[in-house]
Amino acid sequence: MNTLQLGATGPRVSAIGLGCMGMSGMYGPSDRAESIATIHAAMDAGITLLDTGDFYGSGHNEMLIGEALKGLKPSQRDAALVSVKFGAMRDPAGGWVGYDARPAAVKNFATYSLQRLGVDHIDIYRPARLDPNVPIEETIGAIADLVKAGYVRHIGLSEVGPQTIRKAVAVHPVCDLQIEYSLISRGIEDEILATCRELGIGITAYGVLSRGLISGHWTKDSAGEKDFRAHSPRFQGENVERNLALVEALRKIADAKGVSVAQIAIAWVAAQGDDIVPLIGARRRTRLDEALGASSVKLGADDFAAIERAVPKGAAAGDRYAAAQMASLDSEPRRG
Ligand SMILES: NC(=O)c1ccc[n+]([C@@H]2O[C@H](COP(=O)([O-])OP(=O)(O)OC[C@H]3O[C@@H](n4cnc5c(N)ncnc54)[C@H](OP(=O)(O)O)[C@@H]3O)[C@@H](O)[C@H]2O)c1
Repeated sequence: MNTLQLGATGPRVSAIGLGCMGMSGMYGPSDRAESIATIHAAMDAGITLLDTGDFYGSGHNEMLIGEALKGLKPSQRDAALVSVKFGAMRDPAGGWVGYDARPAAVKNFATYSLQRLGVDHIDIYRPARLDPNVPIEETIGAIADLVKAGYVRHIGLSEVGPQTIRKAVAVHPVCDLQIEYSLISRGIEDEILATCRELGIGITAYGVLSRGLISGHWTKDSAGEKDFRAHSPRFQGENVERNLALVEALRKIADAKGVSVAQIAIAWVAAQGDDIVPLIGARRRTRLDEALGASSVKLGADDFAAIERAVPKGAAAGDRYAAAQMASLDSEPRRG
């Protein structure tokens, strides 16, 4: 597995990271033993970056990663870099009840994350969203205090736009911005990517397979009941049919190259720059193996042109989140 430097100030990480969210309920039920086996297989394959959020399964995901880390050889445990998001709040039924990124909340969230993960520091710590009631400078200042005290190594951001990024780096260096980026979510190309490059901030790209939609395995009836995708605009009615037609266009290119659709989609994001780390949401070893195969897919100029014809920028039907969640994204241009 290749490695790369995450931003000008960040750690060296594997060129592909493992996103663990789907192992804790966001995409319906998952298998605990298979989840841990997938984390171990990822580490065996050279993946060092594990991404989580304290709100994924309300602590479940961090405890799962903590358990997986305990099962590793000391050398592998030392190599693992855990990236944690905080700030999103949930009720006991799993409902989303807002954000809290006040300085005291930051320190409180971090304290619990350290316990659940069973570690003495968090490698990269980031607010999941901009808290509209708290200046980003205060949130970053609180994480900077945790860096000074040794509880956090690096600071990251998530789904914020250029102005917020600039305010954040004025307080403390930021190693990466975590943001959705895929063939059908290319908003960061307009301004955010250039801002990050100017400021020496890497990108950890999520939703590279658009949460499975462009993996080549999705069908219009795949979403279960307690699945984020059952409520996501791109997975609904006519939208999903139009989006799956894009996948079929992509499949022709994949078939001609003897690779899978998911591999093309991952390789395309990885090819956008050596400052971009795709976070892969595999929760089973079979999916992980397929994703790892993307590392050996070479895309040439003809491939890029064919991919662009099959899935032109802006081709997706439906927004990447439901309206209320779109409104909480500082990274999206304001509408209306
Ligand atoms: N910062 C943020 O706001 C934010 C938001 C969302 C996610 N994230 C992070 O980013 C990570 C990845 O995001 P994502 O879940 O949206 O990822 P994704 O890779 O776009 O989608 C993952 C989904 O695709 C399915 N899939 C099908 N083929 C696959 C393959 N070959 N490899 C991997 N998955 C395959 C997965 O498994 P099944 O087939 O088993 O369903 C899963 O349901 C998350 O785990 C989380 O850590 C961050």
